[in-house]
Amino acid sequence: MIVLSALGGYIITSYVFLKYPGILHKKKDVKFKAVHISHRGGAGENLENTMAAFQHAVNVGTQMLEIDCHITRDGHVVVSHDNSLNRTAGMEGCITDTDYQDLPPMLGSLRTDFEFTHVTVGGEDRRIPLLREVFEKFPDLAINIDIKINNDALIHEACAFHFVNKLIVEFKREHLTVWGNGSKEITDKCHKMNPSIGVLFSVKRVLLVVFLFYSGLLPFVPLHESFYEVLMPGVLLRENKFHVNFTSRQKFFIRLADTLLMNRSIFQHLSARGIQTYLWVLNDREDFERAFRYGVTGVMTDFPSRLTEYMDAKSA
Ligand SMILES: *[C@@H]1O[C@H](CO)[C@@H](O)[C@H](O)[C@H]1NC(C)=O
Ligand SMILES: *[C@@H]1O[C@H](CO)[C@@H](O)[C@H](O)[C@H]1NC(C)=O
Ligand SMILES: *[C@@H]1O[C@H](CO)[C@@H](O)[C@H](O)[C@H]1NC(C)=O
Ligand SMILES: *[C@@H]1O[C@H](CO)[C@@H](O)[C@H](O)[C@H]1NC(C)=O
Repeated sequence: MIVLSALGGYIITSYVFLKYPGILHKKKDVKFKAVHISHRGGAGENLENTMAAFQHAVNVGTQMLEIDCHITRDGHVVVSHDNSLNRTAGMEGCITDTDYQDLPPMLGSLRTDFEFTHVTVGGEDRRIPLLREVFEKFPDLAINIDIKINNDALIHEACAFHFVNKLIVEFKREHLTVWGNGSKEITDKCHKMNPSIGVLFSVKRVLLVVFLFYSGLLPFVPLHESFYEVLMPGVLLRENKFHVNFTSRQKFFIRLADTLLMNRSIFQHLSARGIQTYLWVLNDREDFERAFRYGVTGVMTDFPSRLTEYMDAKSA
């Protein structure tokens, strides 16, 4: 009887704090809102991570650019998803082993990672840009930086973080920048380097959030991150998206992950705590629809025009 009433009390308390997190946690200061986010600047409509892609995404109304950065041998922070030049430039070698002035142009066309059947043909702009150029060109735009700094870089890792932070501070865009990486170690380093810049949840921390939610503990636990960015697992099973044939066992786990992660109550609770919630990388109408139905605050896409079209049709 005592056990049962204690359990009942726990469930009720947990439920109340889940709905009204303001009782236990001060709501985070939400410095900007981005509903429309362009993955690598919109990798399906322009060569990924180029200035041309960023300008196009902004022209069609994106509210945030998602970009990746690496550091060259001579210490320049550049915007590129891969450190290897193989896929993007068709060359041997890595960015970390190359001086900035010797970086090759990208190939004229690239396959879109999240839509395997789509090849993006680039225009004139095939240059790997500096992070500084992006900050100069878009001073008021929110930017999500995926830190891909490699331990093997000649530039000491701590020093590389310092370079990225220095740029963010120089351009006074702490409030417009989000940074982090799937790895907890890297994200923790970002947070330690400059706590005034918002950080992403690492993969480990996302799993922890999901575990805490289903055990009823989530409402009681403080969270230092401000951006909950997760993959919608279901997209992995869409046809023509990935050049992978999953086994039925893998499909089972993908569906299970989808059910566990895609729960409206998680997104609503986090939003109420001032944490923005984004799903990636969604390129289809059905997936945009599904994401907004769960109440996420933003959607990340390779096709900024498609998302704009969807959002315009919705609001009309
Ligand atoms: C790029 O990688 C592929 C597959 O690993 C390899 O076959 C190819 O030789 C590489 N190309 C260059 C230029 O290194
Ligand atoms: C995190 O950074 C490491 C380099 O330190 C990179 O290899 C890895 O791909 C990054 N992970 C994600 C999810 O971006
Ligand atoms: C997946 O399966 C289809 C049909 O069985 C086959 O044509 C295709 O080559 C396979 N793809 C991969 C990446 O193995
Ligand atoms: C979310 O999870 C809760 C707790 O397990 C469950 O009661 C609810 O039905 C789930 N909601 C959806 C939409 O799956």
